[in-house]
Amino acid sequence: MKIINNIDVLKSELGARKSIALVPTMGNIHEGHLSLVRYAKNYADTVVCTIFVNQLQFNEKADFFTYPRTIDNDLKKLEINKTDIAFVPPEELMYPCEQEFFIEVPEYISKSLEGQFRGPFFSRVATIVLKFFLLIRPDIAVFGKKDFQQAFMIKKLCLQFPMQCTILLGETIRDLDGLALSSRNSHLGVSERAKANQMYKILVNMKEEIFQNKEQEYFNLKFLNQLEDTGRDKLNKEGWECEYIKIINKDFFREPICPKTEWRQLIVLAAARLGNTRLIDNVEIIESNIQ
Ligand code: PAF
Repeated sequence: MKIINNIDVLKSELGARKSIALVPTMGNIHEGHLSLVRYAKNYADTVVCTIFVNQLQFNEKADFFTYPRTIDNDLKKLEINKTDIAFVPPEELMYPCEQEFFIEVPEYISKSLEGQFRGPFFSRVATIVLKFFLLIRPDIAVFGKKDFQQAFMIKKLCLQFPMQCTILLGETIRDLDGLALSSRNSHLGVSERAKANQMYKILVNMKEEIFQNKEQEYFNLKFLNQLEDTGRDKLNKEGWECEYIKIINKDFFREPICPKTEWRQLIVLAAARLGNTRLIDNVEIIESNIQ
């Protein structure tokens, strides 16, 4: 594996490659990232994994400063999993001067769900991802389904700018008890970790309710809203601070207009705080890849 932190070397390395798959990360590599690397390898002869903690996308300073940085371990894991290039740019390479231009993300994405709680997060992610696309020119880029809203936005971005890049989504990888792997799990205390799978269990329960009731007369938006309320109450009663639990049509990123005909496209998304740690997760009613 080549470890590169400079544009000239990156360009000359990539010049000779046939097809390139990109896996962008902020480091603290875990099995979730590695599964994306292995997935990417099926679609291109060269897998480039980027590690860059993008300060501009953090809404809370503390979250940025405490974000786990484990570069030596990260590189070892990437190498074992056959990453071809680890691109680890210094801050001044990605932001050579104060960033004044940002991608404007449509409000139905940027102001809903995650967007309500994370300030300009989506615009900042779109901007850094675009920079990586311009530098690396990947044929394929792989994002995790755990960050569903981010993946949805990037897919739209790629459709509306001529990136010539296919976006693939990798499955969420979970611990044995169901907790989705995330760098932020390392912030959980022992007792918090013990109950951290509750959110996933509630989402799975909502999925089952949808599946079992999808043919009933009463399967409408009101029914779905009641499921959301029940899910939120359950989480809060367990001591979480729920930010949202929402059932949406994942193809259009909006509430279903006709749940009876749209049930296959539904996804349940949630974000909640457990102590000082903010966790997000989602469950699709029917698993699918978005290409
Ligand atoms: O999902 C992440 O780790 C980040 O948002 C990304 C896509 C690497 C952009 O900084």
